[in-house]
Amino acid sequence: MTNTLTTPLYYVNDKPHIGSVYTTLAVDTLARFERLKGEEVIFITGCDEHGQKIQRTAANQGVEPKQHCDLISSQFESNWKDWGISNDRFIRTTDPRHRSIVEQFFKRVEANGDIIQGRQQGWYCVACEEYKDDPADAVDPFCPIHNRALEWRDESNLFFRLSRYQKPIEELISRDGFIRPLSRRHEVQRFVEGGLRDFSISRLDLPWGIPVPGHEGHTFYVWFDALLGYITALLDPDDEPDLQTAISRGWPSSLHVIGKDILRFHAVYWPAMCLSAGIEPPKAVFGHGFLTREGQKMGKSLGNTIDPSRLLEHCGADAVRWYLLRDIQFGDDGDIQQQRLLDLVNNDLANTIGNLVNRTVAMSRKWFDGIPAPSSAPNNQHPLAIAAEAAIHQAPSHYQALAFHLAAQDVLQLAIDANGYLSEKAPWSAIKDPNNRDAVAADLYAVLETARLVGVLLAPLLPDLSQRLLTQLDQPPLDWNRDGRWGRLNAGQSLPEPVPLLQRLELEEPL
Ligand code: MSP
Repeated sequence: MTNTLTTPLYYVNDKPHIGSVYTTLAVDTLARFERLKGEEVIFITGCDEHGQKIQRTAANQGVEPKQHCDLISSQFESNWKDWGISNDRFIRTTDPRHRSIVEQFFKRVEANGDIIQGRQQGWYCVACEEYKDDPADAVDPFCPIHNRALEWRDESNLFFRLSRYQKPIEELISRDGFIRPLSRRHEVQRFVEGGLRDFSISRLDLPWGIPVPGHEGHTFYVWFDALLGYITALLDPDDEPDLQTAISRGWPSSLHVIGKDILRFHAVYWPAMCLSAGIEPPKAVFGHGFLTREGQKMGKSLGNTIDPSRLLEHCGADAVRWYLLRDIQFGDDGDIQQQRLLDLVNNDLANTIGNLVNRTVAMSRKWFDGIPAPSSAPNNQHPLAIAAEAAIHQAPSHYQALAFHLAAQDVLQLAIDANGYLSEKAPWSAIKDPNNRDAVAADLYAVLETARLVGVLLAPLLPDLSQRLLTQLDQPPLDWNRDGRWGRLNAGQSLPEPVPLLQRLELEEPL
């Protein structure tokens, strides 16, 4: 069974921001975890390039929309390479094959009687590309997400008959695990209980979009087209753009990971569209929280956005991954604090994990020329074996549940236990008495073995650091199912000279 995992398809109105980096790092961690378990994964990311917002952005810069999209989407693509993201696909909704998939999908929905003429009036946020039901201030309405004025719209165009899907959607969203976390499911349930209304899927005055077949002058509403990008992305590079072929490559998706602001589109509109087209809805949707900075909402107008490239350059991908995924419960809102980033990275990665590996390797080399070979290998009842067993058992289920902060804590705890064990046994004193040599060998072997398992269990979350750690222990390429067990380390094997796993972070200026 293919595991299709997606990030949102990011708007190309601007270069990547910290929100898009956050979602993408999370999906990357999950995709790596699934692959390590041996699952077949298609990890999709990409760009959402049509609609009024993009058209306006390009116009403001005095360039053609396509030219603008080419530029920004190439920045996204190279940005994900810089972050070491392991996506299998990068879909652009301006890809000609996508247009064909959208047309085929629309024809199915239309043939099913779900496209009607309608009229919609209301306040619209161009940044969200969405009508707002209940603007906070009816006199001077604004979008609370983008902190900008809404625009009044009165449009007659094509509508999708969402109202026909009230019952199936109610049934779908009440399924266990369809919407996670649970608080978000409740939010969507309240919305659906209010009664689903048909929604407009075309625009008459918008050249920058895919034309609606059979309805001259209409282009697709950007969300109708964008969601279908998840299906187009499944096409193999040489496939003809055939909807059924795309579906056969890996639909339904196992999970859409998105921010909470776009939950309705993914958990309500999109599944209903799929049902109408006779396609299975996605299997699950996870809506994560929003990031703030030092307690404040981030925004260009506030001048407090974080430039992800700068963050990457100063801290490195491992540090940012660790901080964002270890410190914030995935699903909850989170606050980015520079001092906390430094503290966690330096304490957890440089001190706890880095020093553990470094000093244990150094001692093992000095006294035993490599991995010590105690007269009896540590058995499964060794205190560190018991601690490792707990982490081996728990971390995968936490990864599976997208509880990345708990997976991180499981592994960190293991490193803390190993450090504690070293302090207790103090091999640096014990070795002075030749009678203790065998006991010291057994202790160091156990600590090295624990360090190895720290490296193994960290692989989805911190792929680079994990790789460096395992290289330090001279391990073969990682095979999770083989390596995730106690006692795999080859006694007597030599070890390369230790190098620091991670440089301590020092940041004088604000990021
Ligand atoms: N183009 C649509 C998605 C279409 S999917 C078929 C879109 N793009 S976006 O670029 O505006 O947003 C991408 C993601 O970034 C969303 O999941 C959104 O929740 C997330 N974030 C935007 N600001 C954020 C924070 N401050 N914090 C965390 N995530 C945030 O929406």
